[in-house]
Amino acid sequence: MIPLVDVKAQYAPLIPQLQERLAQVLESGRFIFGPEVEAFERESAAFLGVAHAIGVANGTDALVLALEAMGIGRGDEVICPAFTFYASAESIARVGATPVFADIDPVSLNLDPEDVAARMTARTKAIMPVHLFGRPAPLDALASLGLPLIEDSAQAFGAAGVASKGVCSTFSFFPTKNLFALGDGGLVACSDDEVAERVRMLRFHGSRDKKTFELVGTNSRLDAIQAAALRVFLPHLNGWNRGRREGAARYAELGLGDVVELPLDEPGHVYHMYVVRSPDRARIAAALAEAGIASASYYVVPLHLQPAMRYLGYSAGSLPETERAAADNLALPLWGGIGAEVQEQVAAAVLAAAGVTAAS
Ligand SMILES: Cc1ncc(COP(=O)(O)O)c(C=O)c1O
Repeated sequence: MIPLVDVKAQYAPLIPQLQERLAQVLESGRFIFGPEVEAFERESAAFLGVAHAIGVANGTDALVLALEAMGIGRGDEVICPAFTFYASAESIARVGATPVFADIDPVSLNLDPEDVAARMTARTKAIMPVHLFGRPAPLDALASLGLPLIEDSAQAFGAAGVASKGVCSTFSFFPTKNLFALGDGGLVACSDDEVAERVRMLRFHGSRDKKTFELVGTNSRLDAIQAAALRVFLPHLNGWNRGRREGAARYAELGLGDVVELPLDEPGHVYHMYVVRSPDRARIAAALAEAGIASASYYVVPLHLQPAMRYLGYSAGSLPETERAAADNLALPLWGGIGAEVQEQVAAAVLAAAGVTAAS
């Protein structure tokens, strides 16, 4: 069976190093905050080029805490895509604000700045671009609209420009992400000292000193064990991302572009997922499954049509490009270090499903 992502293939060579570092954490007896978390926060801030990086429990909390720290709440609107994981819009609703869905660009699958501009009102307090599938969203165009940005960067650690324009940029370390933990984990990157201080307080019950409680916060911490693993993985991230880019180039060389629409390449794209488009995706997915190859279609019911978002009043046809992408996207196997042989099998199965013989 060829999986969609082989996470273990990426970390297997690092198991001895992981064992050593995790043993050090066991020896230290420090599992909450402490030196491992502080070191990972410093190292990830340096990697991302931001002043502050704050470890939290997962990527959903990272979004909620960032929105709260940016002062977004009841009566405010935040514009986001509907072609993304549910947590993007859920976090906006969670802080009491209203998600306003804008359509996506059909080629990049990221927010379309023109449609965002058309949906801005006096109540719009921020724009939430999602760097979908590892492709950088058009931050310059979105920033030029004059509102604060909060970047949902869950799928794009290491992508070009990520965390460069948002007041906050949030990450998830769910194990299939480009940079991953051995369980849940998240991060808020921030270059505004005051917002960063509020995120730090909010992740620990609104307190600076664990004695005085100045805000109503929550408990959302990155564990020391996860920080230790992330410190082992971070130096390998650029190599894994290069491997993903090489894999994407190989699919193009293998002729997939003859039968499906390929993701547009650009230098900063880190291919969290390799997503092609085809009106025949059901047939291709069935042929892949028959050949023992995993594939997946993402956000098949986009967020504006999800039951929990019905109160917002969207209906089928409200976001045409979003709905088209929901209907024809198909992710093919890709990870850092996927081999040529595996990709040849995938390509042969896709081409066969389309009635074409594989290029040799
Ligand atoms: C775009 C996006 N936003 C937010 C999240 C939420 O992250 P987590 O699962 O760590 O809460 C994810 C991933 O799961 C995601 O893909």
